[in-house]
Amino acid sequence: MAAISLERMFRLLGTAAVPGTGRELKALSTRIGELVELNGEAWVRRHRGRLLAQWRRALGAEPALPLPMTQPPRKDPMPLFEAAAIKAMRLRNRFVRSATWEAMAAADGAVTARLVETTAALARGGVGLIISSHAFIRPEGQAGPGQVGAYADALVPGLRQMAAAAHENGAKILLQLAHAGYFAAEALTGVPPIAVSAAVRLDDTPRREMGAADIGALVAAFAAAAVRAKAAGFDGVQLHCAHGYLLNQFLSPLFNRRKDDYGGALANRARVHVETIRAIRRAVGPEYPVLAKVNSRDFAEGGLEPPEALEAALLMEQAGLDAVELSSGMTRHARFGAARTGIRNQAQEAYHREEAKLFKAKLRIPLILVGGIRSLPVAERLVREGVCDFIAMSRPLIREPDLINRWTSGDRRKAACTSDNLCFGPARRGEGLYCVTAARKKRRSP
Ligand SMILES: Cc1cc2nc3c(=O)[nH]c(=O)nc-3n(C[C@H](O)[C@H](O)[C@H](O)COP(=O)(O)O)c2cc1C
Ligand code: SF4
Repeated sequence: MAAISLERMFRLLGTAAVPGTGRELKALSTRIGELVELNGEAWVRRHRGRLLAQWRRALGAEPALPLPMTQPPRKDPMPLFEAAAIKAMRLRNRFVRSATWEAMAAADGAVTARLVETTAALARGGVGLIISSHAFIRPEGQAGPGQVGAYADALVPGLRQMAAAAHENGAKILLQLAHAGYFAAEALTGVPPIAVSAAVRLDDTPRREMGAADIGALVAAFAAAAVRAKAAGFDGVQLHCAHGYLLNQFLSPLFNRRKDDYGGALANRARVHVETIRAIRRAVGPEYPVLAKVNSRDFAEGGLEPPEALEAALLMEQAGLDAVELSSGMTRHARFGAARTGIRNQAQEAYHREEAKLFKAKLRIPLILVGGIRSLPVAERLVREGVCDFIAMSRPLIREPDLINRWTSGDRRKAACTSDNLCFGPARRGEGLYCVTAARKKRRSP
């Protein structure tokens, strides 16, 4: 590999000055050229702080070249199938099962044997991290039938079985904490849904606007649910701030028309998130992983757009968040939901990849990407090119809970899921989630 130009090297290292004589800089540019060839430009840019520090140390201790590396450079610096970590949470690989409402819990939100077995099957299938379905943290925050609850201590024993099912099969597991807010199911909760601003009328259902006491109670309920998750053996929690649910509604100008400290400027709209993260931290300690799933945009007129979504994520990072999962869309009233249909080729996969680049460039904490990822080469490129750190999937793992083991064993064909969303049918009917397309195929050719 010939040396790259000094100009290109300075650009990659993000600096206009590197110490060293002309000969030493020439040697450094050869080394950087090798690293670009092996690992790609994004890798070099990502590790430039470390590379520069090593270079300075090398010049001080031993000006002789070549530049020593703490680890030999590798062809694939972040292989999907190798162990990785989010904070102190060690994962066997970089594959994440994105939160998926299985509609298998009891009417009061208690975990059932079927849900425990579903969790065990996912863990046996090789995924590194399982994120549970959205668990409602207050009774009036339930979104749909069969949803898991995290609103009472009595639910902890069932949650403990779920966490154990993941651990016994080598996976880590987070509890996703949620409140449906505007989109809560009155037919199940028996009370009118609460809203960030009652003036917002997207349908005919009357809603009650949250007062200051409601907001205080909400923050406390998230913290109490996180304590339950920890007591049940979950490895961390994920705040559901996406898909149009309550923590998304606070951020979204479409839903949030408040005139108090929780409305108006983005810093106010993100106040409840910052308070929630701090309250959780106080309750579970500094080491417990606290993640958030956020919308990069709502895909609704007047909704959240990427610049403000990123600003909110940065505020959450400052408040102590450990990783962001990036999604988009809303459950209703949006151009797109989170689970898009019509993913037929690699170009249509990873449909948040452009937004992910924006987030990755600014966030210091790991980024998990979800949305239409179906092929291993796409997943590999996303991580190798530094678009994200972890790969999350939902529907592919409904159809094939053992997809990661299949890929690991060398069968690298793309996921069988056809992204037709027929699996929402049984979930909405409260029958429990399953792949309708696979079941139909099986019936046609037994
Ligand atoms: C049946 C079903 C239930 C879902 N439930 C949740 C949920 O509880 N929480 C959540 O954050 N996202 C939920 N999602 C969205 C997924 O986590 C994911 O963001 C989306 O499906 C796109 O990823 P995919 O293309 O890999 O399916 C659900 C998706 C499906 C298909
Ligand atoms: S029904 Fe099956 S194939 Fe269709 S989206 Fe759901 S998991 Fe994928």
